[in-house]
Amino acid sequence: MAEAEIGVIGLGVMGANLALNIADNGYHVAVYNRTTSRTEEFAAAAGDLSERVTACSTLEEFVAAIRPPRPVIIMVKAGEPVDQQIAALKPLLEANDIIIDAGNANFRDTMRRFTELEGPGQTFIGMGVSGGEEGARRGPSIMVGGKEEAWRRVEPVLTAISAKYEGEPCAAWLGENGAGHFVKTIHNGIEYADMQMIAEVYGVMRDHLSMDAASIAAVFSAWSTGPLDSYLIDITAEVLRVEDAATGQPIVDVIVDAAGQKGTGRWSVIESQMMGVPATAIEAAVAARSLSAMRAQRAQAQQRFGLLPQQDRRDGQQVIDDLEKALLAGKVAAYAQGFAVMAAASDEFGWNLPMATIARIWRAGCIIRSRFLDEIATAFTRDPDVENLALTPAFSKMIEGTDMSLRRIVAEAALNGLPVPALASALGYFDTYRRGRGTANLIQAQRDFFGAHGFERIDADGQHHGPWGGSV
Ligand code: 6PG
Repeated sequence: MAEAEIGVIGLGVMGANLALNIADNGYHVAVYNRTTSRTEEFAAAAGDLSERVTACSTLEEFVAAIRPPRPVIIMVKAGEPVDQQIAALKPLLEANDIIIDAGNANFRDTMRRFTELEGPGQTFIGMGVSGGEEGARRGPSIMVGGKEEAWRRVEPVLTAISAKYEGEPCAAWLGENGAGHFVKTIHNGIEYADMQMIAEVYGVMRDHLSMDAASIAAVFSAWSTGPLDSYLIDITAEVLRVEDAATGQPIVDVIVDAAGQKGTGRWSVIESQMMGVPATAIEAAVAARSLSAMRAQRAQAQQRFGLLPQQDRRDGQQVIDDLEKALLAGKVAAYAQGFAVMAAASDEFGWNLPMATIARIWRAGCIIRSRFLDEIATAFTRDPDVENLALTPAFSKMIEGTDMSLRRIVAEAALNGLPVPALASALGYFDTYRRGRGTANLIQAQRDFFGAHGFERIDADGQHHGPWGGSV
């Protein structure tokens, strides 16, 4: 008998935890994994929740176990495996069934899949899920893209399993087709920038102030009660305190300094570039991960150029106070950029993305959850059409209060050869953004000189050319 209200395909950690979360919230869930032994393992470990779990060993069994119209969540590796899974599932499903891709898909794939499934009468939802393993089990942030009518049908279960911020569910419908996966991609881009800037201030403490991991942990713990209060700051403090069993050293000191990346950060940057919206802090963070992976070349370069001696060290506490503010200033730039990219995509793809809602559903459950996001939610609720977060009263004030610290840290790092690329690009972005008269007049002159591209004059309308002599 079909008693399940929803199905989950893919019982890796994220899929398994989502399925348990669904059962925990009183829903009956059918589960399927391509490797049957994994399904069996899952069912055996489900404990009390197993009475609300139907473990299936074939896709036919799985589909038959769910009451139509069926919502089916696919949580498999992004890319080709999703298409394969949809192809296997499609012939078994009926009209009005909904396929929900909960992986970190590229939103362009989601748009294609959405169109492909419209024809056969099935519905597709691209759903961004953030919060890692723990979030999937206890309450993630859920960003939904697809038909609003399809969302309405799954809204009860998705809001039930989502994280709650002061009782408000962190799950929302954000727009048609690729909207949910696009927003998740930008979430991850911001996550990259946030993590990179945290790593940069860690670097200044470690390499400029010669602090050990435990002392740095104490600084992050102290910051977690202030304006930087966030999940990423909390876990940073925690991570820095963990000891490696084999060596007795802090575990961070034995971890190789080459960061992985699966693509979402890069996609954020690619899309921002395609739309001509600067996302420099995110770009710097993605590039820093790529540079981190070039270990052999970095070692060679260090041998060739050496490191700069640490000089003119100010009082440690002064530097630490500046680092806290610099991080906050950098965050403003990264989030302002991320939200600006979303606003541009909203226009380009006709999504009408609700900025305040996005900030609200990021306040709990997701990796970038923070006090800061509550302030962003308030800013966008007050002024939904603001072009740049930096121009809202609350964030302008924050910039004024942190700007000089960011300058001192970037300058100090530069003089001491310490890499702070994301913080430096945040500063470059502010300084470019705040300057009414920049330097692109010279670029226009150069373009006109070599390519007769024309320029506008400040004192006359229309296109003009310079009186270049061509003597070079
Ligand atoms: C989240 C995370 C999650 C995952 C990313 C990390 O929001 O829960 O962003 O989606 O950790 O895949 O991406 P990288 O492997 O690219 O760092």
